[in-house]
Amino acid sequence: MSVNSNQLLLVVLLIAAVAAAKTIPMSKPNCPSKCGNVTIPFPFGLTNPCSLNTSFLITCDKSLPFLKTTTEMRLFNTTDEKVQVQVLDISLDGQLHVSLPVATSCVDNKNVESDNDYSFFIRLYTPFHLSSKQNKLTVLGAYTAGIVADDYLRSQTTYAPTYCVSFYSSDLYNKTHDESCSGTFCCETPIQHRLSEFYYACAANIFDYNSTRREFLSYPCGYTFLAKEGAYNFSMRDFINFNRSNTFPVVVDWAVGNTCLDAQKNASSYACKSKHSECHNAEVGPGYHCKCSTGFRGNPYLSDGCQDVDECVEESHDCLKGRSTCINSPEGSYSCSCLKGYEGGGKNNGSGCVIRSNRKIIIALSVTGSILALVGGTLYVYCALKKSKLNRLKEHFFQLNGGLLLQQQLNRYSGSNELTKIFNVKELKEATNNFNEEMVLGEGGEGTVYKGILPDNRIVAIKKSRISNPNQIEHFINEVILLCQINHRNVVKLLGCCLETEVPLLVYEFVPNGTVYEHLHDQSKSLRLTWKRRLQIAIETAGALAYLHSATHAPIVHRDVKTSNILLDHNLTAKVSDFGASKIIPLDRTQLTTLVLGTLGYLDPEYFHSSQLTKKSDVYSFGVVLAELLTGEKALSFERPEPHRNLAIHFHSSMNEGQLLDIVDGRIINEANVEQLMDVANIASHCLRLKGEERPTMREVAMKLEGINIVEKRQWEKVNLSSEETETLLKATPSSSFSVDGVNRRSMHSSSDILNRLSSSLTSGR
Ligand SMILES: *[C@@H]1O[C@H](CO)[C@@H](O)[C@H](O)[C@H]1NC(C)=O
Ligand SMILES: *[C@@H]1O[C@H](CO)[C@@H](O)[C@H](O)[C@H]1NC(C)=O
Ligand SMILES: *[C@@H]1O[C@H](CO)[C@@H](O)[C@H](O)[C@H]1NC(C)=O
Ligand SMILES: *[C@@H]1O[C@H](CO)[C@@H](O)[C@H](O)[C@H]1NC(C)=O
Ligand SMILES: *[C@@H]1O[C@H](CO)[C@@H](O)[C@H](O)[C@H]1NC(C)=O
Ligand SMILES: *[C@@H]1O[C@H](CO)[C@@H](O)[C@H](O)[C@H]1NC(C)=O
Ligand SMILES: *[C@@H]1O[C@H](CO)[C@@H](O)[C@H](O)[C@H]1NC(C)=O
Ligand SMILES: *[C@@H]1O[C@H](CO)[C@@H](O)[C@H](O)[C@H]1NC(C)=O
Ligand SMILES: *[C@@H]1O[C@H](CO)[C@@H](O)[C@H](O)[C@H]1NC(C)=O
Repeated sequence: MSVNSNQLLLVVLLIAAVAAAKTIPMSKPNCPSKCGNVTIPFPFGLTNPCSLNTSFLITCDKSLPFLKTTTEMRLFNTTDEKVQVQVLDISLDGQLHVSLPVATSCVDNKNVESDNDYSFFIRLYTPFHLSSKQNKLTVLGAYTAGIVADDYLRSQTTYAPTYCVSFYSSDLYNKTHDESCSGTFCCETPIQHRLSEFYYACAANIFDYNSTRREFLSYPCGYTFLAKEGAYNFSMRDFINFNRSNTFPVVVDWAVGNTCLDAQKNASSYACKSKHSECHNAEVGPGYHCKCSTGFRGNPYLSDGCQDVDECVEESHDCLKGRSTCINSPEGSYSCSCLKGYEGGGKNNGSGCVIRSNRKIIIALSVTGSILALVGGTLYVYCALKKSKLNRLKEHFFQLNGGLLLQQQLNRYSGSNELTKIFNVKELKEATNNFNEEMVLGEGGEGTVYKGILPDNRIVAIKKSRISNPNQIEHFINEVILLCQINHRNVVKLLGCCLETEVPLLVYEFVPNGTVYEHLHDQSKSLRLTWKRRLQIAIETAGALAYLHSATHAPIVHRDVKTSNILLDHNLTAKVSDFGASKIIPLDRTQLTTLVLGTLGYLDPEYFHSSQLTKKSDVYSFGVVLAELLTGEKALSFERPEPHRNLAIHFHSSMNEGQLLDIVDGRIINEANVEQLMDVANIASHCLRLKGEERPTMREVAMKLEGINIVEKRQWEKVNLSSEETETLLKATPSSSFSVDGVNRRSMHSSSDILNRLSSSLTSGR
C-alpha cells in the first residue's frame, strides 16, 4: 500500500516536472495559478503573498474568481446588498474582463415605481479603472433614462455623468427597428470618463404623468447596463422581454506603480522583475505595464518570468527554406545560417542565401560591416546619453510644472477623506469679533449663525447650537463626524468644528446669496428666480438629498427640508444646509422612532402621526419645496382661506381640479413651457402622497427632474444635430412627412422641427 502510494507520488512528481518544463509559470512558486478555468497571473494572486499587494487579490469561490471591490446593489426599498464582481479573464497587457449585472427600474400601472428597482455602486481599488474607450452604456426601455457616473450622487469630485435616454415609438413591429440601438427602444453611448468608482442606474418611464401614451405601460421596465464594445447587439426581442439576470462583460484597466521613470529608480519596488522585460507607461492615467522583450514570452512581473521563445521549433522564423537552417538564440531572437556552399543573411526577406563567391568581397564586406558597426555603435551611445539627459530634464519640468501636485491630488482621491479642521475657541472668537451681534447672520430655534473671518481671510459661517439635553451631545458628535465626510457640491460644506466650548461650534463654508425662501417670498430681495433657475435648484436639491439618503455609510434623513434651508452661492448653485435635526438611520433599519421634529407646512403627515421617521419624510418635504417653487406661495400661509392654508393641500386640490395653471407663480408662467410645469407638478404630487411607500425615492425624483431637463436641452440644442438619434430620425423621414404618434405631419422643413415636435409630443403626452 505504502509502496503504491510512493510510486504514485513519483509519477505525479515526474508529470509535474515535465509539465513545469513545458509550461511557463504565470504565478509565484507554490501559488495556485488558476481559479476554475481562469488563469490568475502574478501580480494577481489568490492569497496574500501570492499577489503583488492586497489590491491584486482575487477571491476564488466555488471555482469562480472575484475581484476585490466594494460593491453595493441598491434596492428601491433601501436594502443594500453586497454583490461580487466576477472576473472572466485577466490579461497581462493591463486589462481584465469582469461581468456586471443589469440595473433595473419598473413602474406599475399606476405609474408608481415598484419594488423591483436595482442600481449598482461599484468601487474598484486603486490600480483599477472602468475603461472609457472600450465600454458602452446601454439603455433599454420605453422613455427610460440611464446613467453612469462617479457616484452620481456625489457630484463634487470630478466628472459630468454619462446619460442616455431611450424613447418609444408605436410601430413596434417594424422590422427596421431591429438590430439598431439608436434612440428608440434602445440607446447607447460611450462612457465619457475613466472611472474607478461608479454608479449606474436607470429610471423607467420618465414622462409618466397622466398620459395618453398608456400603451407603453405594457413595457413598464427599463434596463441599464455597461458592456464591452460589441458584447451586446440590440434586438427587439430584448425590448419586449429582457432577462434581467443577464450579465455583461466589461473591460477594466489596471497598471502598477506610477511611471517607468520613477519605478526604475528603485529596484526593490520596480515591478518588471524578469530579466528580459521592458517597461511601458500606461496609455492613460498613472501606472506602467511590463512586457517581455521581443523573442520572449511569459510573465514579466516574475523574476525569470520571460522565457525565450524557440522560433525554430515553433516555425515562427523566416529563414529561407531549403537553403538555410534556423538557430535559436537564448538571448531572445534567432539567426539563420545558410547551408554549406551558400552565403547571405539566410532570411526570406533580405539577402537570402546565394551561392558563395569570391572571399575578397567577403573580407571587404566584413570590413565595411565593422566600420558601419563602429559608427552605428558610437551614434547609439551618443543618443542614449542624450536621451538620459533629456529624461532628467523632463523630470525636472514635471516637478516644476505641478506634476507632483497632481500626484498628491490623485493620492488624495484614492485614499482617505479630507480631514476636517478642529478649530480652537480663540480663533473663532477672533473671527466673529467675540461673537458680536453685528456678525449674526441668522437666528433660529436651534441656534445662532455668525459670520466669521478666519485669519487667512476666508469667510465662514459659524453655528452656535442650542443643546438643552447633555445626552444629545454624543449623538451630535457622531453626526458631526458623519457630516465631515459628506462632500457634495450641493450640500453646505462643514469645514470644521470646535469642541472646546460647552456646546460645539460648527464652521461651515459661507454661502453668500441668501436662501431660496427669501428670494421667493421677500419682495425686497432683488434676485428674480427664473423658471430655469428654479428647475435647476430643484434638481440640485434632489441630488443632494438622494446622496444623503443613499451614498454615505449610513443613510441620513435631513428632517428639515424647506426653502429656508436651501442656500444659494455666488453662482446661484443650491446648497442644502442645517443638519441640526438630521438623523442617521442605521443600515439594518429602514425607520426610526423619534420625537417629531420639523417645520409645519413641510412636515410629513405620516411621520407626524406615527413618529416613524423614514427617508420618505424628506421626500414629502421636498414635494412641498417643489410646490413652492412652482407656485411661489409659502408652505403655510394665513392669507389663504381655511382649507388652503397648507400649500400641500392647496396644491393637491388645484391639481385634481385641473387648475394647476391658475396657481403657477405669475413671475414664471410666461417663461416656462407648460408641459414642463406639468411634469414637475406631477413629480411634486407623487412626492406629496399621503402614504410614504407610494412616494418615489429621492434618487428617482432627481433622475426624473434631470430627464425633464435633458428633454428641454434637446429642444434648445437643436442646432447641434450630430446625435445618432437625429440621424436615424432623418434617415427614417421620407421627403417631407413624418409620423409622430401615428399622426402624419406635413411640411416639416428641417430636422430641428422634427426634434422639436418629438420632444414636445413626448412632454405633453398628447
Ligand atoms: C471550464 O471550461 C469548460 C470547457 O470550456 C466548461 O465545460 C466548464 O464548465 C468550465 N468550468 C468552470 C468552473 O467554469
Ligand atoms: C425589498 O424588496 C425586495 C424585492 O421586492 C424584497 O425581496 C425585500 O424583502 C424588500 N425589503 C424590505 C426591507 O422591504
Ligand atoms: C454583435 O455584432 C457584431 C457584428 O455583427 C459581431 O461581431 C458580434 O459578435 C455580435 N455580438 C454578439 C454578442 O452577438
Ligand atoms: C435568465 O438568465 C439567467 C442567467 O443567465 C438564467 O439562469 C435564467 O434561466 C434566465 N431566465 C429566463 C426566463 O430565460
Ligand atoms: C498595490 O499596487 C498598486 C500598483 O502599484 C497600487 O496602485 C496600489 O495602491 C497598491 N495597493 C495597496 C493596497 O497597497
Ligand atoms: C524602494 O522601495 C522600497 C519598497 O517599496 C522602499 O522600502 C524603499 O524605501 C525604497 N527606496 C528608495 C531609495 O526609495
Ligand atoms: C520583410 O521585412 C519587412 C520589414 O522588415 C517586414 O515588414 C515583412 O513582413 C518581411 N516579409 C517577410 C515575408 O517576412
Ligand atoms: C388627467 O387626465 C384626466 C382625464 O383624462 C383629465 O381630466 C385631467 O385634466 C388630466 N390632468 C392633468 C394634470 O393633465
Ligand atoms: C417602418 O419604418 C420605416 C422607417 O421608420 C418606415 O419608412 C416604414 O413605412 C415603416 N413600415 C411600416 C410597415 O410601418
